[in-house]
Amino acid sequence: MRASRFAKRGVWTQVTQQEQPIDFKEPLPEGVQDLRPWFIAVYDLPERIDWSTFWGNDNPVELDVGCGRGLFLHNASVQNPETNYLGLELDFKEGRRSAKRAWKRQAPNARVVGGDATTSLRKHIEPHSVDAVHVYFPDPWWRRKHRRRRIFTDEFVGLCSRVLKPGGMLHSWTDVPDYFDIIQALMDHHDDFETQPAPDERPPEHDMDYQTSFERKKRKEGFPIFRGLWKRIDGNLSES
Ligand SMILES: C[S@@+](CC[C@H](N)C(=O)[O-])C[C@H]1O[C@@H](n2cnc3c(N)ncnc32)[C@H](O)[C@@H]1O
Repeated sequence: MRASRFAKRGVWTQVTQQEQPIDFKEPLPEGVQDLRPWFIAVYDLPERIDWSTFWGNDNPVELDVGCGRGLFLHNASVQNPETNYLGLELDFKEGRRSAKRAWKRQAPNARVVGGDATTSLRKHIEPHSVDAVHVYFPDPWWRRKHRRRRIFTDEFVGLCSRVLKPGGMLHSWTDVPDYFDIIQALMDHHDDFETQPAPDERPPEHDMDYQTSFERKKRKEGFPIFRGLWKRIDGNLSES
């Protein structure tokens, strides 16, 4: 198995769960800009992240699972400078693209971790340390035989419950009706979450005034967007 591929354009290409971890503690290959700390590989995270050390402050932390090109990360971190936003993105090329935006403005409150989000949620993030989890337009994996790759599963919801503080919010939007039905079924029936009124659609004030790049694309194409919001309840707190 190959550890990684290095694209001619000078960016890390996608690393899937099946591939070997890249040791980012090694010097980066020539031509790859070191975007640390704005872009960090999951393999470079400390065993358990201490948010105060990671951000240099005790501000609230919100996660963007599958942040893609990072429109949400960018807009939210500009609009809410007192909140820290961490993107978790499997595709290193996309993740680095998001991180580069934050690097350009030396944003103190936006960063991206490259790698499978479930690894960060399961292993590296302290239980009940996060104020919100955002999951916008998760990959639908259209082909039936690929459906089991969808990120929203009982296990994923359990991981979100594990990292969210009591009262923390889980936001998820998609344009795929059957995937939204599954997300709703998983969330509405989970003991650790309470369903909240979903936000209404609002007209954009300018061309980039969308929650994410995918929302922008899908709304422009005329697709309806399904929005869900759930609150982590106070009980059932795990320590591990
Ligand atoms: C359809 S895109 C949506 C991107 C962005 N949220 C948006 O709304 O524009 C889904 C993103 O999730 C990422 N992704 C898929 N599985 C993931 C996983 N297990 N961990 C982290 N990111 C993942 C993909 O690489 C892709 O960038």
